[in-house]
Amino acid sequence: MAFQKALKESEVPEGKVAKAKIGKKEFAVIRLGGAVYCIEGVCTHEGGPLGEGSLEGGELVCPWHEGRFDVKTGAANPETDWVTDVKAYTTKTEDGYVWIDF
Ligand code: FES
Repeated sequence: MAFQKALKESEVPEGKVAKAKIGKKEFAVIRLGGAVYCIEGVCTHEGGPLGEGSLEGGELVCPWHEGRFDVKTGAANPETDWVTDVKAYTTKTEDGYVWIDF
């Protein structure tokens, strides 16, 4: 595990979700309450692009069938039981970029 540069900080303003790709791996990066979170970018249901999802409360909503995930832990909301948990990653911001530890 090592931090890798994912995207510019300016690409993920407060209250927004952004896509990031490192090699073949896709991520959803979220800025909420001043903190930056990162979860896997591919939905566990049918592979929807979570980096194109929306935020509702502390949850990221999949753009395809509205599966919901906790942005901090990647845990699936039991009310949307067609999705299972995604992995959550540690992030840091440095030199104007968001870095993901994976
Ligand atoms: S692909 Fe995400 S809820 Fe179906």
